[in-house]
Amino acid sequence: MSVLMPTRSFRAPLQPDIPRNWLPANPALSALLDMYTVIVPSNEAFYMRTLARCLGRIDDPDLAAAGRAFIHQEAEHGVAHKRFWSVLDAHGYRYRRLERIIDVLTFRLTERIAPLSLRMSMVSCIEHINAFMAHEFLRQGILADAHPEVRAMQEWHFAEEIEHKSVSFDVLRAVSPGYGMRLAGWVPTTVLFYTLMTLGMLFFLAQDGGLWRASTWRGLWRHLGPEHGMARRTLKHLFAYLKPSFHPSQLDDRALAEAVIARYSSPQGGWLAPATRGSGRAPDLAA
Ligand SMILES: [Fe+2]
Ligand SMILES: [Fe+2]
Repeated sequence: MSVLMPTRSFRAPLQPDIPRNWLPANPALSALLDMYTVIVPSNEAFYMRTLARCLGRIDDPDLAAAGRAFIHQEAEHGVAHKRFWSVLDAHGYRYRRLERIIDVLTFRLTERIAPLSLRMSMVSCIEHINAFMAHEFLRQGILADAHPEVRAMQEWHFAEEIEHKSVSFDVLRAVSPGYGMRLAGWVPTTVLFYTLMTLGMLFFLAQDGGLWRASTWRGLWRHLGPEHGMARRTLKHLFAYLKPSFHPSQLDDRALAEAVIARYSSPQGGWLAPATRGSGRAPDLAA
């Protein structure tokens, strides 16, 4: 399994000359993904710590290997998204205190008060959300007009979310197979994720004046409704997870992910390279 999920580094320079509005047709969407970028490092560190604690309880060596490959992929996602913070800094955005508060009040607090099985269930649910966002963004080419480096970073991340989308679900089934635990993770994760993303999007838009422009809201409306159908599609994917017979592999979109990885690994436009020792930070597994 780990052979199918190599660890790749994202090598685009991500210099501060990337425009503030890197998705000109839809400022609300670029603000939403800026917030996604802000929470990725601490959010994915939470996945890594949770998975690492579950690995010792897993008897299946293939699943354990997939879990380790998952941890390394998530570590590289955190590295790349954190590099993008220098672009956000260059544009004068204030978000670092917010990021610290979110880490302490959501991920670190959850680790203190929630049992491991519930944390694993939350990781499984958020990984489903990552995977269906990836599916929709890649299938619909939503970032086709974005700045090429930011598009590559987001699309590479999305492709790997598809690549490893079954891992956390399978780990949850191994450590806590009951349906009730799946449901118990779905409720807080869904509420937390969409609350944080919505508030974060507004926070970024308020800082660049986009909050007060009608074009911002028209773009968001098109994304949710007529253009990308994301309101309806999000509900469909969220509730699919609650079917007792659900498994992430039922939506087979591996070809979508493979095409993206091939595009960004090509000698012409390649910003992906096999991760080498020291190319990224070691996974932060400290509680
Ligand atoms: Fe990720
Ligand atoms: Fe992931």
